[in-house]
Amino acid sequence: MLKVKYGVAGDPSIEMGVDVCLMVRDVSKRFGDRVAVDGVSFKVHRGEIYGLLGPNGAGKTTLLSMIAGILEPDSGEISIDGLNALDPKTRGRVGYCPQEPIVYDNLTGLENMMFYAGLHGLSGGHVKQRCRELLDQMGLGEYASRKVKTYSGGMKKRLSFAITLIGEPELLLLDEPTTGMDPRIRRSVWESILRLKEEGKTIILATHYMEEADELSDRVAIMDLGKVVAEGSPEDLKNRYGPKAVIDVELSKPATDPEAMIEEVKPYASEGRVMCRNGELRVHVDDPDIVAPKIVSELVRMGVGLKTLKITTPTLEDVFLRLTGRRLIEG
Ligand SMILES: Nc1ncnc2c1ncn2[C@@H]1O[C@H](COP(=O)(O)OP(=O)(O)OP(=O)(O)O)[C@@H](O)[C@H]1O
Ligand SMILES: [Mg+2]
Repeated sequence: MLKVKYGVAGDPSIEMGVDVCLMVRDVSKRFGDRVAVDGVSFKVHRGEIYGLLGPNGAGKTTLLSMIAGILEPDSGEISIDGLNALDPKTRGRVGYCPQEPIVYDNLTGLENMMFYAGLHGLSGGHVKQRCRELLDQMGLGEYASRKVKTYSGGMKKRLSFAITLIGEPELLLLDEPTTGMDPRIRRSVWESILRLKEEGKTIILATHYMEEADELSDRVAIMDLGKVVAEGSPEDLKNRYGPKAVIDVELSKPATDPEAMIEEVKPYASEGRVMCRNGELRVHVDDPDIVAPKIVSELVRMGVGLKTLKITTPTLEDVFLRLTGRRLIEG
């Protein structure tokens, strides 16, 4: 176990009684003239799950690569337990599960695990046993002896996650850990992530799935175009930036003129926020009891058929929309 220093005067890793595991201060990174990460600062507390939520190109992977010490920031500072992220002494503490799994197709799942265990200087029967346990935990036990070329994308991702755990890192960097997984498998990976938190790991989770960030994170940094645009617990973010309520209307057939429909509904929406996608209308509202009937009669007047109408609480997607004017996943 890593020794944690408590109460050392002037120790930057201890602040206001909170044990800071990772500090990112004013970090920027460019690729040519493209700014991928733009003056980002945040702190991650030991034992928490910290979500980085943002759409494609927000800078999540670039940021995680810098935290993992693979990429050097152009400016700013990243420290892990008070050590610079580029310091080789941080290596054993950090487990990085990249967005694209780095696994060998011609080896079996177990052989991949043993290969990476070797890189950690681990070998012997007990290591094989541990590798099998980790594969079991990721639901890959029965596929341990199959070549990885027979694995699906989601299975490779879970193998990559298991590989990340071999060296027993204390800080886990998970880049889109459930992309391409069906909902049942996704949920099992979420359970694994929560179990790791219970074991005391600190976890940074980059995702563009708002449900994932909401369900798992203690705190979330919402990222867009290289910047952190808001930070807080999911509840806190929804209270601060979300509308009071959201009305979701499922249309019985697509509107003939969606733009006109949006314009008619806008006066009832909070800050005019009305979206229409895939035969669904989403309206941010502040007084649902009053405006819901008005929206319905407006739609009926326009000859738009309604299949269902739901009044719900805002999600992190609504927060993102409010902050950026765009949706997390375009389409
Ligand atoms: N090696 C690179 N060379 C040039 N541009 C890059 C490189 N890596 C990232 N970028 C650019 O930097 C920006 C941030 O990319 P990054 O991959 O960090 O975003 P992301 O939030 O992880 O996106 P995604 O959700 O698609 O994984 C993007 O505009 C991307 O095109
Ligand atoms: Mg990425």
